[in-house]
Amino acid sequence: MKVAIVGTGYVGLVTGVVLAEKEHDVLCVDNDLEKVEKIRKGIPPIYEPGLEEVLKQTLASGTFRITSSIAEACEFAEVIFIAVGTPPGDDGTPDTTAVKAVAHEIGKNIKRYIVVVVKSTVPVGTGDLVENIIESYGVRHELFDVVSNPEFLREGTALDDTRHPDRLILGVERQEPADILLKLFECLPSPSLVTNRRSSELIKYASNSFLAVKISFANAMSRVCELCGANVAEVMKGVGMDARIGPAFLQAGLGWGGSCLPKDVQGMIAVACNWGYDFDLLRATVVINQHQTAHFINRLQKRLHGVNGKKIALLGLTFKPNTDDLRDSRSLIILESLLRNGAQVTAYDPVANEAAKKLHPEAKYAKNPYEAAKDADAVVIATEWNEFKELDLKKLADVMKQKILFDGRLIFNRKDVEAAGLEYFVVGERNVR
Ligand code: UDX
Repeated sequence: MKVAIVGTGYVGLVTGVVLAEKEHDVLCVDNDLEKVEKIRKGIPPIYEPGLEEVLKQTLASGTFRITSSIAEACEFAEVIFIAVGTPPGDDGTPDTTAVKAVAHEIGKNIKRYIVVVVKSTVPVGTGDLVENIIESYGVRHELFDVVSNPEFLREGTALDDTRHPDRLILGVERQEPADILLKLFECLPSPSLVTNRRSSELIKYASNSFLAVKISFANAMSRVCELCGANVAEVMKGVGMDARIGPAFLQAGLGWGGSCLPKDVQGMIAVACNWGYDFDLLRATVVINQHQTAHFINRLQKRLHGVNGKKIALLGLTFKPNTDDLRDSRSLIILESLLRNGAQVTAYDPVANEAAKKLHPEAKYAKNPYEAAKDADAVVIATEWNEFKELDLKKLADVMKQKILFDGRLIFNRKDVEAAGLEYFVVGERNVR
């Protein structure tokens, strides 16, 4: 099928290359000319494992192309996806300016029937808005349908998530466009659910909000565990064995960050509020998340008797492993707090040192974890990169001044850490001294 995708962020670009890999004819569109040039040369503007290979491959086979012209996309495609950004506005409501701008361009350029699919995460009712914008150009309703098709891919595993989706959600006002999209996505088998457009728009917010609730629940339990002597990893493992609950997203740690969960939880709160509901469960979810990082920093400060003048090695800067994304990273919150309180921080991240240096030139950046830990008063694990799980703890302890390890992501076994001569402070376990 001939498919155009407007917006080449995580969602647009990954969807584009995967559909192209499945032999659909894909034309991606972006108004950032620099980005277009890079992608045309096979260089993805984002770090995502495996993306460069499949981009180069689909460019070479001719199933993937890129342009900056929506008019060209309207001429070419049977289906157009809108996958542009919807950053949060001041009150948390997603800013749909870019989605509306694309709708205007589509309205100006439609000449024959096209299915317009909104993939961007948008407030309930945005599908209606897109429809109205297109109609405002005098386009007859027989010439288009607007469908909601939320995206659930995760950074770091985006290709795999897209190739093997958990589910396909289609929000429609008529069955015909759903049939066209079910055909398009036949190449990516998954259970599908066809709903009305507003339900589909809400499913994305509801899913991400519920994931955040799960994590915040585990983090709240971690606080109870620290107080009563239980172990949060064991507790949540036991809880997750209940088939009604499931084990996923119950990993306690420093809290949730990234480009989606924080934005979508705030979006859900704002969307509910606009419709007249105060979502206090989600407000509490956000507060627990903020407290989780602050509490970890307090524990560190307490153990070091203040961080002023102390040398601290911060391992991991990205919001989670296998991505270069620093947006709403808990690690950066820790970094900022430590610097503000007079600590000398040496950070190390397998992929994001350079990007973090631009944001925080006042910190030092090391070439590897051992260099970061040299003469440190404490080492902090802020992101669970595999590289850190494989650290030689004895070697790490040997280069440190004070043998103190703070683990914000529960990646070590207490016995191993203590055998290396390190004092171990981990989320969700009482300090053992
Ligand atoms: C999320 C959703 O999972 C995805 O479906 C949606 O399309 C986009 O938003 P992503 O932002 O890539 O994906 O990250 P995710 O893997 O969900 O992790 C979000 C945050 O939660 C990270 O900071 C991670 O460290 C944290 N997390 C996740 C935990 O603290 N504990 C867990 O058990 C799981």
